[in-house]
Amino acid sequence: MQVTYLGQSAFQIAMHGKQLIFDPMISSNPMANHMDLATLQSDYILLSHGHGDHVADAEMLAKQNDSKIISSYEVVSWYEQKGLAGHPMNLGGKFKFDFGTVKYVQAIHSSMLPDGSYGGPSGGFVVWNEDKSFYFAGDTALTLDMKLIPMTCPTLDFAILPIGDNFTMGYEDAVIAADFIQCDTIIGCHYDTFGYIKIDHEAAIAEFKNAGKNLILLNIGQSITL
Ligand code: NI
Ligand code: MN
Repeated sequence: MQVTYLGQSAFQIAMHGKQLIFDPMISSNPMANHMDLATLQSDYILLSHGHGDHVADAEMLAKQNDSKIISSYEVVSWYEQKGLAGHPMNLGGKFKFDFGTVKYVQAIHSSMLPDGSYGGPSGGFVVWNEDKSFYFAGDTALTLDMKLIPMTCPTLDFAILPIGDNFTMGYEDAVIAADFIQCDTIIGCHYDTFGYIKIDHEAAIAEFKNAGKNLILLNIGQSITL
């Protein structure tokens, strides 16, 4: 499975020949100005919540690629009013798509759309098919609910966790989160994009290593196969 980092919390993940884009904020991210949105392909756009640093390019990409938006009922309704196609979910629910199963899981965070509309709950996604299983946490604090993921979903191959602190958990709490979800391969996100969330990469990697876990920090535009 190919995973490409697009900056902040944005990722492109290929699954069963479908391109999934998570939380696209690319054109307004000064650290991602080498990325070309016009050539970015998406069959589905998964939005963890309505904050601008997660949805900024969702409308543009959805129109460009005729993609379906998967998110909370409130976020999807907001996009449907703009004439875009969506698939609404709510916490604890799962649905089988043509690329695999998506479960929309609890995040401890707020959610508001760019025009101030109520964004519903903030969530994360566990996505799996017969080949791979992963967790995209979105923006969240460390929460005991993460312990439910290994009880209710297939064993995770990797997880994408926020590590930048201030608006989400920091990397110290993310190490505990990795324990709760029983996953040793973690890709970090939601760090360095702006001042409040700048982190010491070496310290973050060492914190995971001390716990016997691997923290992967990708360059923007870099792809890895997991
Ligand atoms: Ni947020
Ligand atoms: Mn955010």
